Amino acid sequence: MNLIFLGAPGAGKGTQAEVVSDALKIPQISTGNILREAAKNGTEYGLKAKAAMDAGALVSDDIVIGILKERIAEDDCKEGFILDGFPRTVPQAEALDAMGIQIDKVIEINVADETIKQRVSGRRVCQGCGASYHIEYKPSKVEGVCDKCGDATVIRKDDKPEVVLDRLATYHEKTAPLKDYYEKQGKLVTVEGQEEVADTSKLTLAAVGVN
Ligand code: AP5
Repeated sequence: MNLIFLGAPGAGKGTQAEVVSDALKIPQISTGNILREAAKNGTEYGLKAKAAMDAGALVSDDIVIGILKERIAEDDCKEGFILDGFPRTVPQAEALDAMGIQIDKVIEINVADETIKQRVSGRRVCQGCGASYHIEYKPSKVEGVCDKCGDATVIRKDDKPEVVLDRLATYHEKTAPLKDYYEKQGKLVTVEGQEEVADTSKLTLAAVGVN
């Protein structure tokens, strides 16, 4: 199954994509994580991407489409994959269609902007492997330490309140039109984000047909 997870920054699409990835045993491809890793390693495109990411803007379509093409050509994507954070613009969605990739469902995680602003302030991410936590809703077992790799968990640079406002504005302008795009293709399924992660996960798993 090939799935897309769509949603405003901090709505929980990464969290839900991970739940479905574990359930269906197909890879979760987060363009945000790939870009952050490239920025950390100082690769040419990583450095270009970093400035846009730190400002809450989108990285150029050319760079992201190139990354995505390479990633989904890898062996682990043969039985299906979950796109977490791609596409994010109509040109990216058109590029995906032009690649001849069949998408089965597009899951939108819908959460109000006000809730997102509060939620993102509690997010912590692992600086090593990129795993995501929340100090209240999804704490790591030991505070400040990643459960998966033992590295330190930190506040993401673009989770500063002023940058979150810019990310939300970018989402409404550039990414929200994708809801119409996929609605017209009959693929959009909206999951209302709940206060508890586990409650959202139940709805998400039902939306992709896992019970
Ligand atoms: P990316 O890493 O994709 O960030 P984002 O879209 O801003 O999404 P987030 O990771 O902030 O949110 P999420 O919805 O995954 O939320 P999460 O599950 O972590 O992209 C970063 C940047 O990279 C972009 O701004 C852009 O510059 C660039 N980029 C990436 N892809 C691109 C593309 N295709 N084109 C161009 N540029 C691109 O949840 C958030 C927090 O809430 C967590 O702490 C979580 O534990 C908690 N939480 C989750 N669910 C719940 C719940 N139900 N109740 C309570 N808390 C919850």
